[in-house]
Amino acid sequence: MTDILETKKLRKEYQMGEVTVDALKGVDFIVREGEFVAIMGPSGSGKSTLLHLLGGLDSPTEGDISLGGRQLAHLSDDEITLVRRREVGFIFQFYNLLPTLTAAENVALPLLLDGKRADEYAARVTELLELVGLSDRAEHKPDQLSGGEQQRVAIARAFVNQPKIVLADEPTGNLDSKAGNSILDLLRSASKELQTTVVMVTHDPRGASYADRVVFLKDGLIVRELNSEDGELNAEQIISLMAELEL
Ligand SMILES: Nc1ncnc2c1ncn2[C@@H]1O[C@H](COP(=O)(O)OP(=O)(O)OP(=O)(O)O)[C@@H](O)[C@H]1O
Ligand SMILES: [Mg+2]
Repeated sequence: MTDILETKKLRKEYQMGEVTVDALKGVDFIVREGEFVAIMGPSGSGKSTLLHLLGGLDSPTEGDISLGGRQLAHLSDDEITLVRRREVGFIFQFYNLLPTLTAAENVALPLLLDGKRADEYAARVTELLELVGLSDRAEHKPDQLSGGEQQRVAIARAFVNQPKIVLADEPTGNLDSKAGNSILDLLRSASKELQTTVVMVTHDPRGASYADRVVFLKDGLIVRELNSEDGELNAEQIISLMAELEL
């Protein structure tokens, strides 16, 4: 498998007046095409910071990121905007749907922003709503959907543009365990069916066990990885490794 994403000695400092926060201290991270990777680590360990840098939402203090063979540091602001729009899909904990748009319109948004015509994207939107099991909710507004359904819309939106990579920050953090499990099943099957790489931040060992690989962050550094090549990942294995790493 080819590498779709690579970071080298990635550092991120936040300057807060006199105080400097070292959020990432030199992260080397490789993701292969089609992989489903989970990132775990305590609160404040740099998980969201890493995800934001990977998706071009923010830029690193030092080090570089290559996405699909292109160094993000070499791109202009306009080119980065295009990368975010065409090559990356985002899923957040609180769904981030536009409240005035229907489910179908929310899913279509990345295509609209990219200048696609209605007749070009209608079939794609229908296909994605079907994939996430919401064909019969296409005309509902976000406040007419359950939390789990809203997150399904967000998943459909993240995948609609056939991005190279989907980045998810605690996508089940706001859901009960039943809805959370079905979101994780969906993310995994969407990643496999659409052959899209997924990097997901999660606090939940059971959630992380859906991934092909788990990467553990602590104090801004990757301290360990767990791979499913040696058999299925399971929550118990992840919990005991977290205890060992004092996470
Ligand atoms: N915009 C910012 N300005 C200043 N400091 C920040 C900013 N964003 C994050 N930080 C700091 O950087 C560190 C890493 O934050 P980050 O949000 O990446 O953690 P996280 O692992 O996602 O935590 P959580 O699990 O609570 O979401 C924290 O110490 C945080 O306070
Ligand atoms: Mg976070």
